[in-house]
Amino acid sequence: MEKLKRSHMAGILRNEHIGKEVILAGWVQKRRDLGGLIFVDLRDKTGISQVVFDQEVSKEAFIIGETLGTEYVIVVKGKVYERFSKNLEMPTGEVEVFVEEVEVLNDARTPPIYIKDDDQVSENLRLKYRYLDLRKQNMQKNLKLRHDVTKLVRDFLDKENFIEVETPILTKPTPEGARDYIVPSRVNQGKFYALPQSPQLFKQLLMVSGTDRYFQIVKCFRDEDLRADRQPEFTQIDCEMSFVDEMDIMDINEKMMAHVVKGIKGLNITLPFPRMTYKEAMDRYGNDKPDTRFGLELINVTENLKTSDFKVFSSTIEKGGIIKAINVSGEADNFSRKDITNLEKHTKDYGAKGLAWIKVTEEGVNSPIAKFLSESEIQSVLDKTEGKTGDLLLFVADEPSVVHGALSNLRNYLGKELNLYNKDQCNFLWVTEFPLFERDKETGRLSAMHHPFTAPVDEDLLLLEKKPEDARARAYDLVLNGHEIGGGSIRIHTSEIQEKMFQVLGFTKKEAYKKFGFLLEAFQYGTPPHGGIAYGLDRLVMILAHEENIRQVIAFPKTQNATCLLTEAPTTIDDDQLSELHININSSEENS
Ligand code: AMO
Ligand code: AMP
Repeated sequence: MEKLKRSHMAGILRNEHIGKEVILAGWVQKRRDLGGLIFVDLRDKTGISQVVFDQEVSKEAFIIGETLGTEYVIVVKGKVYERFSKNLEMPTGEVEVFVEEVEVLNDARTPPIYIKDDDQVSENLRLKYRYLDLRKQNMQKNLKLRHDVTKLVRDFLDKENFIEVETPILTKPTPEGARDYIVPSRVNQGKFYALPQSPQLFKQLLMVSGTDRYFQIVKCFRDEDLRADRQPEFTQIDCEMSFVDEMDIMDINEKMMAHVVKGIKGLNITLPFPRMTYKEAMDRYGNDKPDTRFGLELINVTENLKTSDFKVFSSTIEKGGIIKAINVSGEADNFSRKDITNLEKHTKDYGAKGLAWIKVTEEGVNSPIAKFLSESEIQSVLDKTEGKTGDLLLFVADEPSVVHGALSNLRNYLGKELNLYNKDQCNFLWVTEFPLFERDKETGRLSAMHHPFTAPVDEDLLLLEKKPEDARARAYDLVLNGHEIGGGSIRIHTSEIQEKMFQVLGFTKKEAYKKFGFLLEAFQYGTPPHGGIAYGLDRLVMILAHEENIRQVIAFPKTQNATCLLTEAPTTIDDDQLSELHININSSEENS
């Protein structure tokens, strides 16, 4: 028998193929044996087609059909017919292929996970058998989506005269705020490379070298606490431009995002994107990446409650804290005490000490704290929050960071629970005027909020010495539906200001030169003004795919503990290899 060569993909067969001879190749998703007929769902990356083994058509094929198991790899040749009982839920459900010839290319062990999208198996098992997990249609769709997004980005940037330049992976530490992944050098005893947290310094050096418009779709490595939208190795769409200001960078990036969203979803996004200062974002939403698809804004009621007899409130205000509320409009009757206790638990996860509430009813307010509040205080809170009959008001009192953390997370939770937005909507937002520095609560040290190469706003330059905490950065983040998908800045491009910056950050000149001397030196050879941005590609694709977890759009992701369950990395290495690298493992730590 001649070898069968695939002619069509399984997912594309439609009515127009009726009467045609086709050859399909793929995996056995399912086999149903109905005596004289065997139905097989044949799957490839494009979808599933039903193929039928019928003794009347081919006895030989039928005999083989009887032996087929799940996930066997087969190739079948046959004619496409209109299906007897149509399945309109399947794109190929109006047709079926009657098999004339079949070849079994490989058999398969029973897979440890079902190859179907709504499989309820644990994620750990899925990650261990990722190559099987990736056979699922939604995972293949995500891989394709990721490919489409990167292609749209590359095409756009190429048209705009950006060139893609690769930068080193074995390099020196780049300060982006996380811990470094370190690689020992065998030939340079006792020395280490760091994997890049981003190509930040190299892209700036490319501007010094006149590259003018750079981009790179590039792996970055950060040893940090992992969350649903963070991985230890992730991919950035990294860009840098010379002779530009913030407006130029925002303008071209908005066009790029509009191009991507149009290409992926067919949606026309209105340009320019809305902009909001960091301060306004914190005031109104309690975080610097607000989801603007719904309201539930945070309302400051500190002034309205400053005379209250409720101890929690008055003592918070005395200590310099604040009280903020959200008005869950029209939901008073839909939240029982038990439901509110659940919301309170949610805020406690983010450090709040409690969640006070008021229900506005026909008969007045219903609230455990009403007895501590005067009528005028209640009225003033209702005025401020626009509280009306049927509304549920929720309050957190604490220091600002706790109030903001707890209420912004509660807001996002309620937005989702109450279906306050359309999942397909894409709300982009630029957040601007970030503080240049933040102060570590424990050590009291200043650190760069973005990174130490970010330029201060011109009129705040003098603050660097006097009051660095008040200095604003020429930095911007791009937010999509409540996720920070990108961030960047206009850079410092003179060695004087860069040195000053390091000084404020507490580096001596010697330390600064030891770490970043190559950059400070480069700045002395004619550096153009420049700036850029980097996107988290995984996050962007996650949002466009409507996934909740970044791992769903990464072919081979790591677990929450930064391990790969498939390859079992990281692993121990042989003593020989260790001694070649001049490394001694502290055995008490090894066993702990
Ligand atoms: P930043 O540190 O803000 O900026 O990173 C840019 C974007 O990368 C994404 N991101 C991550 N995605 C997944 N997992 C992670 N662990 C992770 N960390 C960051 C975010 C973020 O917005 N060099 C600067 C950019 C610049 O100034 O041009 C930088 O790396 O979506
Ligand atoms: P308590 O007096 O501790 O029983 O609290 C009375 C109500 O106030 C409860 O609904 C608590 O959840 C709420 N509460 C306690 N601490 C705070 C706080 N820091 N902010 C807002 N509400 C609080």
